[in-house]
Amino acid sequence: MSTPHPPAGSAARCPWPAGAPSAAPAAALYGPELDGDAMTALYEELRGVHGPVAPVRMAPGIDAWLVMGHRELLQLTREEADFSHDPRRWSLLREGRVPADSPILPMVGWRPALLFADGQQHRRMRAAVSDALAGINGHELRRSVRAAAEELIASFAGRGEADLVAHYARTLPLRVITGLLGVDDRTGRDLVEAVAGTASATSASADASRRMGAILYGLIKEKRRKPGEDITSALLQHPAELTDEEVLHNLVVMFVAGNQTTVNWIATTLRILLTDPAFRSSLTGGHLSVDDALDLVLWRFPPTQNFPARYATRDMRFGGQDIRTGDMLILGLAAANADPEILPADGAPVVGNRSHLAFGAGPHTCPAQDPARLITRTAVDTIRHRLPDLELGVPEDELEWIKSPWSKGLGALPVRFSTPQLPQGTVPPQSAQDLVPRRTTPWNTVPLRPSTTVPD
Ligand code: HEM
Repeated sequence: MSTPHPPAGSAARCPWPAGAPSAAPAAALYGPELDGDAMTALYEELRGVHGPVAPVRMAPGIDAWLVMGHRELLQLTREEADFSHDPRRWSLLREGRVPADSPILPMVGWRPALLFADGQQHRRMRAAVSDALAGINGHELRRSVRAAAEELIASFAGRGEADLVAHYARTLPLRVITGLLGVDDRTGRDLVEAVAGTASATSASADASRRMGAILYGLIKEKRRKPGEDITSALLQHPAELTDEEVLHNLVVMFVAGNQTTVNWIATTLRILLTDPAFRSSLTGGHLSVDDALDLVLWRFPPTQNFPARYATRDMRFGGQDIRTGDMLILGLAAANADPEILPADGAPVVGNRSHLAFGAGPHTCPAQDPARLITRTAVDTIRHRLPDLELGVPEDELEWIKSPWSKGLGALPVRFSTPQLPQGTVPPQSAQDLVPRRTTPWNTVPLRPSTTVPD
């Protein structure tokens, strides 16, 4: 791709190496020093230097464009004729310049699934996936999320402390999603390991990928023989007539796209509840609905901060840059949500406004927004009611975002509590008592608008 140079004398935080030659490399969106907070600063740096579309490096030797403007991101996701979802159009790949062990390949390698298809082929698979998701019974889903949440909370309630990422957020969506796909718990655990191994880009990847294929083929065979009330059976029976291979790869996409994103959404919401008194008191006082609170999290901390990818189908001028046919463009979801062009002067998203791009936009926008929201809302509500005196177990500045160019989530969320309210058969009605903030630090400032709705 054609990479513009940073202007001379850009600020001290400038991501380009000191003394870089005029053909300086694009800013790296990976590396040990790029934790979540550094990424946020980097987006603003890049926006200041390049405008809405900036050259970045996603992995060694892999340059791409990061689309950070809200308007440009809508254009990128809506105009399929200019921006394809099919990685087989990617010039670096076509030219054999992507190393076989590149960490980006598991994210962007082509599969016969909706995420990598355009036009009619995409619509065909999308119809099957959307219809299967639409068949989910909301009441039943809420019941199963709550049951899984109660079980997890009971497993650590006696200890008085827990890591809400490892012991709660990371386990809950997994159980629920495997259940939705029609996988039993044990097979679900094997599947999760296999998916993680496949994406690890290590020497174990090939084995893990074979294991994943075997598990899913086993599931498909079983559901062809004996269909159930699950997504796998719905995909197999859909008039779009997906092949077994297509069903398999669409299941992988749902699993990968749905699991870590929901983990992050739950954990980040809990973090804010624990650390931001304004956020919590708005919620407790009824000034903010749980859904509005969840949307504020999606505005500020979208669970996928950057999403791969689109590929230019022609040379064009876009966002002030010269884009070449086959260039990779990354959806800069977090940066687009923070675009000063669309935020009010104080930079705070307006309560009730859902024009954030956490779920993408256009024909590939996340088809699972409703179930993902229901899972997250139920997970957050259940723990608020069961552990009403929950407090952070470490100083807030010890909480760390995972280091990833893609995912925005916490590595751990240690908490303490003393009085679990365990269920006596039914879940009690919403309690007036709520989590009590123990600390206030500069991080505790997820701004809410209008500010008058936020009591002390
Ligand atoms: C039950 C949980 C979820 C499932 C099963 C799921 C499934 C999917 C699937 C199948 C796609 C591909 C759609 C297509 O290419 O037409 C997708 C895309 C996407 N999902 Fe989800 N998802 C889930 C949760 C989430 C969450 C919690 C977020 C973030 C808040 C999220 C953000 C996205 C984004 C950004 C895209 C890409 C849109 C694009 O490429 O334009 N998803 N999801």
